Amino acid sequence: MRLAVNIDHIATIREARKSDEPDPVAAAVLCELAGAQGITVHLRGDRRHIQDRDVEILRRTVSTHLNVEMAGTPEMVRVAQTIKPHQVTLVPERRDELTTEGGLDVVLHAGNLEKIVRQLIDSAIDVSIFVDPDLEQIRQCQKIRAPKVEINTGKFTEGWIRGSWSAELEKINTAAKAARKMGLIVLAGHGLNYRNIDAIAVNEDIEELNIGHSIVARAALVGLDRAVREMIDLIAHPRRLPTVNR
Ligand code: PXP
Repeated sequence: MRLAVNIDHIATIREARKSDEPDPVAAAVLCELAGAQGITVHLRGDRRHIQDRDVEILRRTVSTHLNVEMAGTPEMVRVAQTIKPHQVTLVPERRDELTTEGGLDVVLHAGNLEKIVRQLIDSAIDVSIFVDPDLEQIRQCQKIRAPKVEINTGKFTEGWIRGSWSAELEKINTAAKAARKMGLIVLAGHGLNYRNIDAIAVNEDIEELNIGHSIVARAALVGLDRAVREMIDLIAHPRRLPTVNR
């Protein structure tokens, strides 16, 4: 299972002072040197952390795989077609949200999303869609010919904090298996950290994880190299957890 590190919050620190440090480009190099197999950034409409300049330079410097999360707006499609990251992940976006709050409603927006998926693929950009672990949403992703889905682990990670997570984990496992059977490449992410990662890392249907906040938070205390290496090690050697009464 591959790890792509989301480095948005390196840029959040920079933007807190509207300064030029820390540079997410430097962070991406360190993540890759520590073994990360991909770099993810979210270019938000309000540019609250990652800036266009970051994506442009990352496209030229990331040597593994650059994944850019974005809303499916005409502006963002133009940015993607200009910068041409290896992959775009289509996500829903609300201006007042702290972070992405749920998966895209692919059933509701099928027509528009099918057009965007086609435009991006025609521009030689791989496409993933961030969806909740819901079979109807997964089926719709296949229908509109998205090659990849990223399953939202957010509800599971919220349940983890409350100590009640097995039902949400089951939804993720069912959705991942179904998506893989449909021929989709399966990714997952949101809210994953050093304590809840084991339950997801044992899932052999999931090929890649996108993890941001917990790695950057740990990096602030122990350094980015160590934070990335520790997460890679946990993903490679997950503990099998008892799910009874959880
Ligand atoms: N996947 C998607 C689609 C996201 O929007 C985010 C947050 O930017 C992540 C994964 C990573 O979530 P976290 O920062 O909680 O690890």
